[in-house]
Amino acid sequence: MRLDANAGIQGSKVRAALDGYRQMLTLVLGLPEQIEQARAIADRVDYGSVRRFDNVVVAGMGGSAIGGSVLRGLLGSELTLPIIVCRDYVVPAIVTRRSLFFAVSYSGNTEETLSAFEQARRIRCRVIAVTSGGRLAELAQRAGVPVVLLSAGLPPRAALGYLFVPLLVGLEQLRICRSYRQDLVEAVGLIRKNRRLWLNRARVLARVLDSRLPVVYSTSRLLDAVAERWQCQLNENAKVMCHVNALPEQNHNELVGIGAPRFLAQRTVLIALLDAATHTRTRLRLKHLLEMTRTGYYRAVQLESQGRSELARIFSLLMLGDMVSVELARRRHVNPMPVARIDELKRRMDWAGRKR
Ligand code: F6R
Repeated sequence: MRLDANAGIQGSKVRAALDGYRQMLTLVLGLPEQIEQARAIADRVDYGSVRRFDNVVVAGMGGSAIGGSVLRGLLGSELTLPIIVCRDYVVPAIVTRRSLFFAVSYSGNTEETLSAFEQARRIRCRVIAVTSGGRLAELAQRAGVPVVLLSAGLPPRAALGYLFVPLLVGLEQLRICRSYRQDLVEAVGLIRKNRRLWLNRARVLARVLDSRLPVVYSTSRLLDAVAERWQCQLNENAKVMCHVNALPEQNHNELVGIGAPRFLAQRTVLIALLDAATHTRTRLRLKHLLEMTRTGYYRAVQLESQGRSELARIFSLLMLGDMVSVELARRRHVNPMPVARIDELKRRMDWAGRKR
């Protein structure tokens, strides 16, 4: 009897995992359409009058913060003002009245982001909220702050198009950066053309990663956010650990540690993300690194970005990582949709907050 009951529970878990896989895969594959919708939504928002800003700050957590990291990587070689991604309750001292401050929370209820939003309001800098509702939408509307209101109901990590594009459009409207309209069009076209092909590649990679530790290296500032995204997606969708670092910095510390502890070495897969912007010397460094540490990992995979513009190149490898995370979830029979531990922690924090 007991065995049958267990088998029933197992069976329903496997079915739920498969349903979740289909849902998440549909969301991942839908990124180009989401980017187009996000552009249309953001184009209708009035971000306020054009003026000089000293810096741009993006406050958010997890899936809502990654858009800020992508923005920072993308504009790193164009902008002369810094972009700071604030993943904390407290905003850094660089936030002044001359900052442009985006408070980004898909749910609108993330306490760290709400705290940063309130501080930014007190500092009286230009604040813009990006959210699908919740407390952030309420507070922003009450304060008369521009709100980019997104459609609700998605896991935040599946809303990257919605969470990233409004930041870029805001910077365009405020004449902080050039227009990226054509680059977005290229990225959308590139993903549409290649998504099936990339999915096959993702299936092969997921097989290599199954029961192993992914170690993802960015090799250019442009790709740092992509490596970060690989980590978050592997954590949240596939429910596995993942380690991220960047070259050339890796050559000056982590290089020495590769291969230990020994039991991990044969369980580690090294994934190097490469781009046209990767310095030729950094490519050479990667070659030497791989030659010198051959026994330190099970396998090394080198992935080149595709596309012409930097934006398209970022999204080509980002999309592949999203697909790998979903395919790995399928292989592991875990449901990529729920993030029970994040929800549980938020519940515990809420409860503690109420008791205070
Ligand atoms: C869940 C996810 C998380 C959330 C984070 C912040 O899909 O990606 O990393 O993004 O817990 O919540 P929001 O985005 O609602 O502010």
